[in-house]
Amino acid sequence: MAKGPVVAIDGPAGAGKSTVARAVAQRLGCMYLDSGAMYRAIALAALRSGVVLDDAAELERLAAGADVTLREGQGGGSRVLLGGEDVTEAVRSPQVEEAVPRVSGVPGVRAVLIAAQRRLAEAGGVVMDGRDIGRVVLPQADCKVYLTADLEVRVRRRYLQLRERGRDADLEEVGRELARRDRWDRDQMVQAPDATEIDTTHLGVEQTVERILALCPGGARRAGN
Ligand code: DC
Repeated sequence: MAKGPVVAIDGPAGAGKSTVARAVAQRLGCMYLDSGAMYRAIALAALRSGVVLDDAAELERLAAGADVTLREGQGGGSRVLLGGEDVTEAVRSPQVEEAVPRVSGVPGVRAVLIAAQRRLAEAGGVVMDGRDIGRVVLPQADCKVYLTADLEVRVRRRYLQLRERGRDADLEEVGRELARRDRWDRDQMVQAPDATEIDTTHLGVEQTVERILALCPGGARRAGN
């Protein structure tokens, strides 16, 4: 049986990766996998077990012993499991938000999660979003996209997303937080040389999805559905 395509979607926070990746997966009949949720799950495990976030060796040990995986949820969402517990909502807490860049900056943690992400994509038929998917995790992906958008637009999208989740967000605070995350994430955010960059500053979700489908093997058939 032919394997489905492997699609890598990278870019900074607020570029619209998760919304777009999920829609692309649905149109391609693939599974959507949110790699960032795995870093968040390790951050949650660290907070729960009281590991000092400056202790890289301890974080690496924690990641190596943690059982973190992703699976498809209802409606094509990506669910994250920590030791079998569904922590998809828990990893969106402000505490995890604050802790995760420190966890994802530890090379040993990255090595553990990158190996797990490769295993998840082994069978094909996946759309994975993150920061380093096209360049490091899945360099053999059939289609690589790097989504960008102006900081101001990313801040507004992130703000609206938080409000939708019922959070009492402040636009300026969201701006500071996103700029801080960009600084922390910068090392991971090197675009794969063979990725197609799509600036979504002036593009809607549907237009972005169409552009990506046109780049994917078998995707052109599904564009315009
Ligand atoms: O996309 P997100 O906000 O859920 O990502 C959470 C954190 O994990 C963020 O600090 C970036 C980091 N991350 C990463 O380093 N590599 C990935 N492939 C995905 C996310």
